[in-house]
Amino acid sequence: MKQQLLLIKLGGSIITDKNKSLPTLKTSIIKRISQQLKNIYQSGKYQIILIHGAGSYGHPLAKKYNLHLGMKTREQKCGFCLTDHSMLRLNSIIMDYLLQASIPAVSLPPRSFITQSGGKLQDFNYHLIKSYLAQNQIPVLFGDVVLDNKWGCSIISGDTIVSYLAKNLKADLVIFLSDVDGIFDSDPKKNPKAKLIPEVTDKNLKQVLQGLTTNNQNDVTGEMQGKIMAIKNNLAHIPVYIINGLKAENLAKTVEQVQVGTKLLFR
Ligand code: IPE
Repeated sequence: MKQQLLLIKLGGSIITDKNKSLPTLKTSIIKRISQQLKNIYQSGKYQIILIHGAGSYGHPLAKKYNLHLGMKTREQKCGFCLTDHSMLRLNSIIMDYLLQASIPAVSLPPRSFITQSGGKLQDFNYHLIKSYLAQNQIPVLFGDVVLDNKWGCSIISGDTIVSYLAKNLKADLVIFLSDVDGIFDSDPKKNPKAKLIPEVTDKNLKQVLQGLTTNNQNDVTGEMQGKIMAIKNNLAHIPVYIINGLKAENLAKTVEQVQVGTKLLFR
């Protein structure tokens, strides 16, 4: 049976404490997800690409140095390097757990092969990723700081990487693990009566977007709204799930096609 291509994004909010201004890990979650990835890998059904976010390892630094506005001053240049270094630290910890779980994961730091122009993706040589997949290895990428030919530098979010790769490599399934159960009709962290929306399609998109609000001051790449629009614009015909990665059973269920969270499918 032909293997399906599965892209998984570990949101910064499940691998780190995103509300902290200093890097703070959620080690037990990273460990648990690594074991689950091992099971998915061993099932032999999937080729897997893993992308992780930045959380408190990236957003506070990027914001401190205003890197989303570019790299002009010497301070910003140092800020770029500090953010990059912090992301490599986070990636290295995640790699430790993946390798301890005997997963053939290989780290590919995005800034070494992706550039942007005015904050938009410009060059992304994904052939290397295809070659690793062909070796049955798991490429691991992450939201990163990259060179930008207009601004000096800009931020690429893991979500953008997921969208680009899923579209160009024709993914069969995309799963975003975040710290909420999915997409709600209003903010579940503020409104206890918020209702989970099981499916988002072209039909209810407008209404869904109206219910969303931005709530994290430290996030420089935009939250759910940006994620949904990136999915809408790039991932037509690919089933995408947004699930709560803090709940242990959710990832396995989604891979087994038992629906949890919100499914997005656009035409
Ligand atoms: C952001 O990546 C990258 C940096 C701030 C350097 P993401 O946008 O994918 O990170 P999370 O998932 O929101 O933390």
